Amino acid sequence: MPDKLTVGIVGYGTMGCGIAQVAATAGCEVLVYEVNRDVLTKSNQNLTKILSRLVEKEKIDQAKADSIKNSIKEVNELLDLGPCDLVIEAIIEDPEVKKNVFSKLEDYVNSDCIIASNTSSLSIASLASSCHNAARFIGIHFFNPAPLMHLVEIIPAIQTSNEIIDKAKAIIDSWGKTTVLAKDAPGFIVNRIARPFYGEALRIYEEGIADFATVDWAMKEIGGFRMGPFELMDFIGNDINYIVTETVFKAFYYDPRYQPSFTQKRFYEAGFLGRKSGQGYYSYQEGADSPSPKADRALGKHIFDRILVRLINEAADALHFGVATKEDIDIAMTKGVNYPKGLLVWADEIGIENCVQRMDTLFNHYHETQYRCSPVLRAMMKTGLTFYQTEKRHA
Ligand SMILES: NC(=O)c1ccc[n+]([C@@H]2O[C@H](COP(=O)([O-])OP(=O)(O)OC[C@H]3O[C@@H](n4cnc5c(N)ncnc54)[C@H](O)[C@@H]3O)[C@@H](O)[C@H]2O)c1
Repeated sequence: MPDKLTVGIVGYGTMGCGIAQVAATAGCEVLVYEVNRDVLTKSNQNLTKILSRLVEKEKIDQAKADSIKNSIKEVNELLDLGPCDLVIEAIIEDPEVKKNVFSKLEDYVNSDCIIASNTSSLSIASLASSCHNAARFIGIHFFNPAPLMHLVEIIPAIQTSNEIIDKAKAIIDSWGKTTVLAKDAPGFIVNRIARPFYGEALRIYEEGIADFATVDWAMKEIGGFRMGPFELMDFIGNDINYIVTETVFKAFYYDPRYQPSFTQKRFYEAGFLGRKSGQGYYSYQEGADSPSPKADRALGKHIFDRILVRLINEAADALHFGVATKEDIDIAMTKGVNYPKGLLVWADEIGIENCVQRMDTLFNHYHETQYRCSPVLRAMMKTGLTFYQTEKRHA
């Protein structure tokens, strides 16, 4: 790889613009290809604002801001991405549109150029198959906002060569990001393991156990999460969050563990998208009251325990199916979605036996397969092992 990398970005929307900023900040030449001129103008305006703010806060000086801006150049044709060492695609989440871009792009770039997708939910193997040389293709999944979120999931397809995995990881590490290696399985690490944070919260609401404000209060006050599930869904957007859930559910051949919620679907259908539409689970209109939680600690603990054990169970199952190492699973959830602790560290702390009992209590109550306990937890309970302490607890 040359000292100064040339990085191509296809699609200069929310993610493309953020990734371009990250690459330019790391000293790369960035070539941007975007089909919509209005998006180009808007993203450039946003970037200028962000850089000015960074200068005001003395995070960077004016010379650095200018060099970042000057390193990002728009190109008019996909063909102009020819000199790139790495191209990251960040266009709409449509497999056919993406594949069409990759098959054309491959003819324009050098044979050693890495071609990557920032897809959140599509199979990397399927996208890679659009290239003649699928071994050069990889998933590089940034989180939103890309300049602020430290985590990047690196997702090799079964076709990807080891050399490309190492190179892609080294480049993104050199940009100051924390990379984790994820299997090309639905939702990769974060979007798979985080599902119960939303799903179980919605279920608790649907069963009338607690309202939105009380669930959010429990997860923040008792669990130490920065945002509650309903606040977070309003922040992400109920459209985006619902679609991700539905995509993961379908990709898992309708495993009930990933079942979407009718409540969220109705909010999405009603246009109650959250912050961006002014109304979601909460109102964001000027002067709107914020509902008070029922600050009952016993209820709060029940809610938190239930959501946490579902998350731990999901993390354990991801480990069981080789989605990532235990360390990467914990890094992904703390750095990708700001969880206060790694879920497997948390499991060790509250005790594996406790986790199994809580899952079994839920399963025995509902008799629904979504509450099945991960075989990893059950096996660990039998042997007395924990995730991070490999010797037996009871010698
Ligand atoms: N928004 C997120 O939170 C987030 C997080 C991680 C990953 N992603 C993934 O990143 C990708 C982009 O998402 P986004 O939120 O930035 O979308 P976005 O709608 O903000 O931007 C996509 C841009 O791609 C452009 N585009 C569409 N077709 C194109 C083409 N053929 N050539 C060039 N440009 C084209 C569109 O004009 C648009 O500006 C998706 O695959 C999404 O799943 C999104």
